[in-house]
This record gives sequence, C-alpha cells and structure tokens, in this order.
Amino acid sequence: MNDPGVQAVYNDTVVRQFSIMAVVWGVVGMLVGVVIAAQLAWPDLNFGIPWLSYGRLRPLHTNAVIFAFGGCALFATSYYVVQRTGQVRLFAGPLAAFTFWGWQAVIVAAAISLPLGYTTGKEYAELEWPIDILITLVWVSYAIVFFGTVGRRRVKHIYVANWFYGAFILAVAVLHVVNSAEVPAGWMKSYSAYAGVQDAMIQWWYGHNAVGFFLTAGFLGMMYYFIPKQAERPVYSYRLSIVHFWALIFTYMWAGPHHLHYTALPDWTQSLGMMFSLILLAPSWGGMINGIMTLSGAWHKLRDDPVLRFLIVSLSFYGMSTFEGPMMSIKTVNALSHYTDWTIGHVHSGALGWVGLISMGSLYFLIPRMFGQKKMYSTKAIELHFWIATIGIVLYIAAMWIAGVMQGLMWGAVNTDGTLTYTFVESVKATYPFYVIRVLGGVLYLGGMLVMAWNTWMTAVSGRSVHVPIPALAAHA
Ligand code: HEM
Ligand code: HEM
Repeated sequence: MNDPGVQAVYNDTVVRQFSIMAVVWGVVGMLVGVVIAAQLAWPDLNFGIPWLSYGRLRPLHTNAVIFAFGGCALFATSYYVVQRTGQVRLFAGPLAAFTFWGWQAVIVAAAISLPLGYTTGKEYAELEWPIDILITLVWVSYAIVFFGTVGRRRVKHIYVANWFYGAFILAVAVLHVVNSAEVPAGWMKSYSAYAGVQDAMIQWWYGHNAVGFFLTAGFLGMMYYFIPKQAERPVYSYRLSIVHFWALIFTYMWAGPHHLHYTALPDWTQSLGMMFSLILLAPSWGGMINGIMTLSGAWHKLRDDPVLRFLIVSLSFYGMSTFEGPMMSIKTVNALSHYTDWTIGHVHSGALGWVGLISMGSLYFLIPRMFGQKKMYSTKAIELHFWIATIGIVLYIAAMWIAGVMQGLMWGAVNTDGTLTYTFVESVKATYPFYVIRVLGGVLYLGGMLVMAWNTWMTAVSGRSVHVPIPALAAHA
C-alpha cells in the first residue's frame, strides 16, 4: 500500500518503553506470586495486615503477571511486528504514547486498589468501574493504532502474526466491555449487570477467552514472528498457519462452560463446552507443530542459542497445557481436578512455561535492537536464566499435579459406611510439602527474572536509543 506521508524511521520509543516495563512488572508480579505461594505454606506471613492478606494479594498477582507483564510484552511486540511487517511507521504516534501511559496508570491503579480491598469479585476482571473505563479508552486507542498501522502498510500482504495480534485486540475489547457491564454504586463499588447463572456464564465466557485471547492468541503472534526471525528460517507451513488461525479463534469462544461443570448451568451447555474443549486440541497442536517445525533443518541452533531455546521450549509447554486442558474439560476428569491444585499446576504450565518463556525469548530479541545492539549484554546470563526458569517451572508444576491428584482422591474417598475417609484438614496437611516445593520453584523462576532485569539494565546503559530507518520497499520485513 502506498502512503506518501510515511516518515523515515520506525516509532520504537513506545516499543522500548513497553519492553522495559514488561521486565519491571514481571519482577513485581512474580515477587507477589512467591509471597502468596509462601503464605499458603506459612499463613503467618500476612503479618495480620489486611492489605497483605492472601485474598487481596492473589488478585494483585494475577493482574500483575497477566495484564502488566503479559500486557506490556504484547503491546511491545505487536507495535514492533506490525511496523516491521508493514514497513511503515506506527499510525497515530500520540495515541500510541497514550496507550503506554494509560496502561501504566491502569496497572498502578490496580496495584493500589486491590490491596485496599476494592474488587468486583470477578476473577481476572476485579478492577472497579472507573478503572474499567480507563481500560476501555486505552484499548480502543490500541485498536486504532494497530489497525491504523495495518491499514497504511506498504506491503500488500498482512503477515499472519498480525492476524493473531488483531484477533487478540478485537476479542479482548468485546470480552472486557461485555463482562464489565456493571451498575456503579459509589466511586469504587459496582454491581454486575448480570445475575445468577447468567452472570457465571458471562464471567467464564470472559475468563476462558481471556486465556484464549489474552494468554494465547497474542503470544501466538509472537511465535509467528520471533521464531522465524531468531531461527532465520521461514515459517514451516504458511497454509497451516491460516488454518490454525481460523480454527483456533472459532473454537475458543465456545469452551467457557468447562469452568462451570456440575453447576446450575444447564447440562447441555456444559457438554457443549467440553466438546469444544476437546476439539481445541487440534488447532492448538497444529499451531505448536508449525512453530516447532520451523526449526527443521536448523535444530543444531538450539544448542548454542539460548534465546531460541526460550522460544522453542515455550512451545513444548504450550503443547503440554493444551493437551492437559482438554483432558481436564472431560466432566469425569474435572470431577477429580476441579477445586484442587491440579488446576493451579495446569495454569502455571501455561503461564510460566508458555506465556512466560515466549515473552522472555521475544524480549531478548527485542531489547538489544531497541538500544542499537546486536545482542543482550550477557549471553551467559540468558543461559542461566533459561535453566533456573525451566527447573523452577518443573518443580512448580510437578508439585501441583501431585498435590492436586492427591487432594481429589482424598476428598472423594469414602468408607464402607458412606462416611468420608479424610477430613479436609488432613488433605491440607498432606499438601504442605508440595506447597514448600512450589515456593522453591517460584523463587527459582523469580531469580531468573531478576537475572533478566540485570541483563536488560546492562544492555540499556551500554547502548543507546536508536532511530531505525524504514527500508526501501522489500518483499520481506
Ligand atoms: C514466580 C512465579 C509465580 C509464582 C510463585 C506464582 C504463584 C501463584 C500462586 C501461589 C497462586 C495462587 C494459587 C492458589 O490460589 O491456590 C497463583 C495463581 C495464579 N497465577 Fe501465578 N505464580 C507465578 C507466576 C505466574 C505467571 C508468570 C502467570 C501468568 C503469566 C501466573 C498466573 C496465575 C494465574 C492465572 C493464577 C490464578 C489461577 C486460578 O485461579 O486457577 N502466575 N500463582
Ligand atoms: C486447549 C486448550 C485449553 C483447554 C481446553 C483448557 C481447559 C481448562 C480447564 C478444563 C480448566 C479447569 C476448569 C476448572 O475445573 O475450574 C482450565 C483452567 C485454567 N486454564 Fe486452561 N485450558 C487450555 C489451555 C490453557 C492455557 C494455554 C493456559 C495459559 C496460558 C490456560 C490457563 C488456564 C487458567 C488460568 C485456568 C484457571 C481458571 C480459573 O479457575 O481461574 N489454559 N483450563
């Protein structure tokens, strides 16, 4: 597409800002994760202070890691990718700057209001209505900047990574607006516009698609750009990537009811959610295979490129959690797993393994380029980060799987006279060692993130902010 008004350099200021803040919020969010993990093992660690209580810090953790860490990584990479693949400067620069400052304001507002106890009580949508309005403004601006850039691109083709980013932006807009419909009852208090089982259904339509679009589709955008770039190979199958896209976004929308098995939700709805969850295995694995096979013929690169290792190992965790998810959606399996730490293990194999590692790999690609460097300050530090993060994940998820299955079996065990074999507190006591192992895994994972923060700092101070010229029109970005 021709655009006579295109300026000569990319707008990387906003990419740089979001990349740095992704690292900062990663440290903060994971630190809160370690604190709540420790509180589950040693409850006295709330020191009797209300705003340090588990119930308030838990949503702070989820909001910080998903929306602050994950969100900043998604903003940074999508702004980078859409400019490079369209060979054009970001549309509406001041609006892009607003998305940065507006999103940071949302995060700070969350970090203050959640510990103070302000919450809507809806998981992953806890923030109260004034913050919801700010989120809407930021998100609409994000859509204008992103799609505006796609619209003024100089390359005819829209590269597949942008399809995934675009779907993520549109779906999150719809999810947020519909699920956050609420009636204000004071400055920091509101009631959901929905009631009873409809409220539950809307909430988990939102919740599951938050997984599907916030925690998956956008990160698949990263996969489709940064793996081919880092591996210096084209995507394994472009045709598969298109099938992957349409199948994934169509199927995700229907799977929400698997969060509400055995509830007052009509039974057929639960079965529908289960069926679509089982179907979801196919596009998820199709995408994973497409990412991993991009490396075919270049497997040796994994040996000495730790950045590529982050990107590829993230896909093995993606494959694991998208195999486990459909299994857990089967009603009889869910009867065992629901309410147990198995769910927490599943969440973190996706969150630490997939979302965390793919973001870190992409940021390791991005950050040096944002400071005029070819690579990060220390490759050894990336190597160290990779290993301690991976060991941390394995400790975390293995502990939660074992604890979860044990809890499910203990809660379901009955004596011949029909009484329960175990009291609840016995299952809590039996879980204790696994909670300690989880703390250890979390400390390792957080340690890796601290190493990354140091490496980022050193890269930034030893480089300088650069203005990258937009190349003369070429076939590939
Ligand atoms: C150092 C790393 C981390 C530690 C130690 C940690 C720890 C925890 C703990 C203790 C919980 C509460 C579990 C419960 O209520 O039983 C939790 C929940 C959660 N965490 Fe993390 N976490 C970490 C990193 C992450 C990251 C990077 C993400 C996302 C990208 C994430 C996403 C979540 C989510 C979505 C939940 C809620 C799960 C649910 O409600 O089923 N966590 N985390
Ligand atoms: C094919 C893909 C997937 C399917 C079918 C699936 C299915 C499920 C099921 C059945 C549950 C348990 C619901 C319950 O018993 O309450 C669950 C929970 C969860 N999954 Fe997945 N999952 C998938 C992929 C993922 C991925 C890749 C992630 C993270 C990046 C993820 C994050 C979560 C979270 C955060 C929860 C906890 C929600 C909550 O209760 O707060 N899932 N998933």
